[in-house]
Amino acid sequence: MSNDRPKKPNMNTRVIRAGYSKKRNSGVVNTPVYHASTVVFDTIAELRDVGARAMRGEKALCYGRFGTPTHWTLEEAITELAGGADTILTPSGIAACALAVIGSVKAGDHVLVSDSAYEPTRKLCDGLLKDFGVETSYYDPCIGAGISALMQPNTRLVFCESPGSHTFEIQDIPAIAQAAHAHGAKVTIDNTWASPIYCQPIALGADISIEAGTKYLSGHSDAMIGAVTATAEMLPGLRRAVLALGYSVGPDDVYLTTRGLRTLGVRLARHQENAMKVALWLRGRPEVKRVLYPALVDDPGHQIWKRDFQGASGLMGVLLHRTSPAAVAALIEGLAYFGLGYSWGGFESLIAPSSPKTIRTAVPWTEAEPGIRLHIGLEDPIDLIGDLEKGFARFTAALG
Ligand SMILES: Cc1ncc(COP(=O)(O)O)c(C=O)c1O
Repeated sequence: MSNDRPKKPNMNTRVIRAGYSKKRNSGVVNTPVYHASTVVFDTIAELRDVGARAMRGEKALCYGRFGTPTHWTLEEAITELAGGADTILTPSGIAACALAVIGSVKAGDHVLVSDSAYEPTRKLCDGLLKDFGVETSYYDPCIGAGISALMQPNTRLVFCESPGSHTFEIQDIPAIAQAAHAHGAKVTIDNTWASPIYCQPIALGADISIEAGTKYLSGHSDAMIGAVTATAEMLPGLRRAVLALGYSVGPDDVYLTTRGLRTLGVRLARHQENAMKVALWLRGRPEVKRVLYPALVDDPGHQIWKRDFQGASGLMGVLLHRTSPAAVAALIEGLAYFGLGYSWGGFESLIAPSSPKTIRTAVPWTEAEPGIRLHIGLEDPIDLIGDLEKGFARFTAALG
């Protein structure tokens, strides 16, 4: 491979080469899986030197927990796609959310969290962080520059997630980042829905970008992993926290994620194409009040999505005119091609009931519940639509 490549190739090209080092891999295309805890040295001086470099965050092979070439390949790949100075891998997506917050705040600080954030992120803030003296308040995800009014002298972090879990509001990250920075606060965003291929929040002004790599990055529903990509300013605090917490990511999950990453471009393009077909079909259904999918031109977040994102993934919400738990169960439980299960971002379609009403505290959710959340996979959308059509017949019969 020649080094004579254009400076900023297209994302679909970058995702193929990102993190690859011919020298590190002795020419092998995929970095081997290093199963390592102990690494041995010839001299005490070498042991100390490599240890000190690893503590500073350098990619130095010191001890399994601090990473091996298997980890560095993925870290460098994600950094290349997401921007920022470096990436820290975490054992799950929620571990990445936790690290982003714990590594950025201390007792006495205040955090602002989007009302649309993934529920376990809220539980972290309302539980452990509260016990450790960090106060959290929740804000309207659509607040934009209005976040200024919520800033307290001790606000250190604004946590965003765009689009929001279950409710799919698109946040104005540049406006939020500008307001937060003016008050001396930092901005972190859970970017799992878009992945670094379809959104690069650090370029939009965020200081930290989080991926639950369990979803699209690995993409095959067989690995648990997270990633925190940050600016140079944020990294020392994050590294300090990760060392203290003792996070370690198993090399097989890292390998699977790097392998998954290479096809992220083609997978996401197909997720998007299929999701749009299903979303448009759903929008025409008499049972459906609204499809929550920012790529739809009439979605309230569409204009910001168009400005800040390069694509849409396969996850969407569906609001229903009339609903009941039994009717939604009748719809879901008879489906042939949609699995009922936690998570999303794998190659397969998933479905689950969605009830955000009891989670939210800043902006009441007034829609009929349960709604449904769909992850549109890589199957033929004609089959998915046919499956859903039969599901809606069961739904209507159950509603009576
Ligand atoms: C938006 C978002 N962030 C984070 C997570 C957590 O990821 P993990 O299950 O890998 O901990 C999830 C999981 O569903 C998620 O949907």
